[in-house]
Amino acid sequence: MSTTLRISAEPLDPAAEAAALHAETISNLFRDLHLLLPKDTLVRRDEPLAKRTTLRVGGPADLYIEPGSDAALSLVLETARFRGLPVILLGRGSNLLVRDGGLRGVVVSLAHPHFSRIETEGNRITAGAGARLKAIAHEARRAGLGGLEFFEGIPGSLGGALRMNAGAMGAWTFDRVERLRCMDRSGAIRDLPAAEVPVEYRACPLLRTHIALGAVLRAEPADPEVVRSRMEQCSHKRWESQPNEPSAGCTFKNPLPTLPAGRLIDELGLKGTRIGDAMVSPVHANFLVNLGNATARDVLTLIGLVRERARTLRAIELETEVEIIGEDA
Ligand code: EPU
Repeated sequence: MSTTLRISAEPLDPAAEAAALHAETISNLFRDLHLLLPKDTLVRRDEPLAKRTTLRVGGPADLYIEPGSDAALSLVLETARFRGLPVILLGRGSNLLVRDGGLRGVVVSLAHPHFSRIETEGNRITAGAGARLKAIAHEARRAGLGGLEFFEGIPGSLGGALRMNAGAMGAWTFDRVERLRCMDRSGAIRDLPAAEVPVEYRACPLLRTHIALGAVLRAEPADPEVVRSRMEQCSHKRWESQPNEPSAGCTFKNPLPTLPAGRLIDELGLKGTRIGDAMVSPVHANFLVNLGNATARDVLTLIGLVRERARTLRAIELETEVEIIGEDA
């Protein structure tokens, strides 16, 4: 006679099981951080990221943290590593496309005043990674220093600009960096002369693994009125040649120094092409703008369409400059 063994519990769906486990890890980390971190560090759960990016699309982060000190940042890294969760740094979100499902893990922003200080001494400006580039440009003008006017036109923070080696008006961020202060993923701080930090067009490879904390920038004495007028030129050029709608700035890297992605996409006749509420800007073709209710999916589909046209019609492989993170909904 045979017997049948019956297990009464419902069989578990592996995806549901993984999601439950993940939610528990997040709850544990949230509790650890509340216990360990000083009160001036902001910790939130399920923080919508759309409002923290200039493109204004994308889902939430499991945890969103604004550490109030170097020690608090180091503690966040250590605690997240212990729980096996990734930590992603968010600047002003001006070069970021977050997918609609958001980010599993921890998002850290250096928006606390501790990381946003700007101090001038002689020809040098020491600024934290959270400082806005615009604020640095204005502080330089106030102090009678020139050379940083191009920061006026970049809507980001110093941390993001260092990581991206952001540029405008023919100048790059690292043209002006004398020293870089950064933290590795174990919390150790390094203060490096710029000569020891390799950089490329739109990249500082060291900052793929390290977190920029700030930098010493080199400027030169200049008449504040001359600096003001150069800043106005940068700002004017930007308003004249770039769209006002929400965007993540230039979407693609220029494929060649002699072939700007904007001109290529324009020549492909794609200005005004629309998927949902995402559109190739009629003002500058390398900007994909959000007309109001775009989803990350709309923008990604449009990116795919532009890349496909460039590939089939011009045999050019466009690479995104915008960083794409998170998971689909
Ligand atoms: N152009 C067109 N059609 C367009 C857009 C541009 O024909 O729709 C032509 C322009 O007329 C110009 C050339 O393409 O002859 C280059 O355009 P632009 O001067 O705007 O410079 P860009 O190479 O498109 C770069 C940076 C921008 C930065 C500007 C201004 C890259 C990918 N982009 O743009 O950076 O603001 O120079 O200095 O390197 C960003 O990184 O997010 C960004 C916007």
